[in-house]
Amino acid sequence: MAHPTPEEWDAHYTSGGRFRPLGDAERRLLAAHVPAPARGFALDVGCGLGELARHLAGSGYRVDAVDLSATALAEARRTGGPGVGYLRLDVERDDLARLPHPAYDLITVRLAWPFVRDRTRVRTSPPPVCGSWRRRRRCGPTRPAPGCGRCCWTPSTAYPG
Ligand SMILES: C[S@@+](CC[C@H](N)C(=O)[O-])C[C@H]1O[C@@H](n2cnc3c(N)ncnc32)[C@H](O)[C@@H]1O
Repeated sequence: MAHPTPEEWDAHYTSGGRFRPLGDAERRLLAAHVPAPARGFALDVGCGLGELARHLAGSGYRVDAVDLSATALAEARRTGGPGVGYLRLDVERDDLARLPHPAYDLITVRLAWPFVRDRTRVRTSPPPVCGSWRRRRRCGPTRPAPGCGRCCWTPSTAYPG
């Protein structure tokens, strides 16, 4: 798997490059498995143009959407939509304490996980606390805490086993 630089991602988006739109199956899975809890916060990592972030916001989450491509984020911001805050962040190299919230009910990494090399760092720093607003639970690097079941790095690889 190639690991494009931020400049290469920018060039991809500038040239009109796009990725597979969010499909019906993905929407159904999200609705079935991770419906937004009251006051639920979601983090979309590698958000690109923000389609998933906007979908999650439309489903009731308040969403922080991060990407290392300034070009993608500029277009996502131009598209607009309520309930999403965008932040330029390289989740491998930047300080994850810059994330606007210390905890998220849902973390998605749609079509972006293969581009992350240091997955342990991303999964464990800061401690991947997730859980409901009222009852925080601490999840480990490979599986959610007992009874959590909400962590979801991608819809297709949500903490298998
Ligand atoms: C294949 S695109 C997917 C975009 C979007 N999630 C979608 O489903 O259309 C991968 C995205 O991940 C972003 N990305 C790659 N490595 C990243 C990193 N270390 N930190 C933040 N974003 C990253 C890229 O800039 C790109 O926008």
